[in-house]
Amino acid sequence: MISFDVFTLFPEIFTPYLQSSILQRAIENRIIQVDLHNIRDWTHDKHHVTDDAPFGGGGGMVMKPEPIFAAIEDTLGTPPLCPVILMTPQGRVFNQRIAEELAQHEHLALLCGHYEGIDERVRQHLVTDEISIGDYVLTGGELPALILIDAISRLRPGTLGDPDGAANDSHSTGLLEYPHYTRPSVFRDWPVPDILMSGHHANIIKWRREQALLRTLRRRPDMLDKADLSDLDKKFLDKLKNDDLI
Ligand code: ADE
Repeated sequence: MISFDVFTLFPEIFTPYLQSSILQRAIENRIIQVDLHNIRDWTHDKHHVTDDAPFGGGGGMVMKPEPIFAAIEDTLGTPPLCPVILMTPQGRVFNQRIAEELAQHEHLALLCGHYEGIDERVRQHLVTDEISIGDYVLTGGELPALILIDAISRLRPGTLGDPDGAANDSHSTGLLEYPHYTRPSVFRDWPVPDILMSGHHANIIKWRREQALLRTLRRRPDMLDKADLSDLDKKFLDKLKNDDLI
């Protein structure tokens, strides 16, 4: 079981996605647990204010430190024993390696920023990791937190129905995935490649590997530098390049 504690001003954003089929089943099967905490519940003033104007002037509002510290410390203790991850475009850029690393934990706290930013003392004294989901800026950390939960959850045994699980995913293997086909064998005028209908298992495995290599070379040549390639793989790639089949 991996358990996520999410700290946000908009817990209602999470519910419909977490109630979608795969994650809902993982929650029912106690493979993952997600507890949503509304930071606003830790404000004590009449209007439940969670933000304030920045010292030094300038536009925008800044999330106040007190309700964030109170929410996280009340829930997780002082100091929290699990990683406290701030979702921010300033963090390390999320990828499958980081998903695999985080999936080793039993407990993660995710803090969703909003407004223009978050008081720097939250970063300095509470947060232990900062993650960005890519080089673009969203209105808040809720979608990024859902992306982390989704990518991490599907790596935990039992979340995916398939016993091989995530092992053959694009990015797990270091290559993009080979193309998939299902019935009908001819759709409109478009047949499934003969090799997949041949029943020749060894040839099919070879074809899939070559398709993965070809696809990665065409779309994401940068990934080939880090991929675990056999001598046969390298020979195939050299041949593609020499034959100008890229
Ligand atoms: N909050 C706003 N933009 C973000 C991003 N790209 N990644 C993580 N959190 C964010």
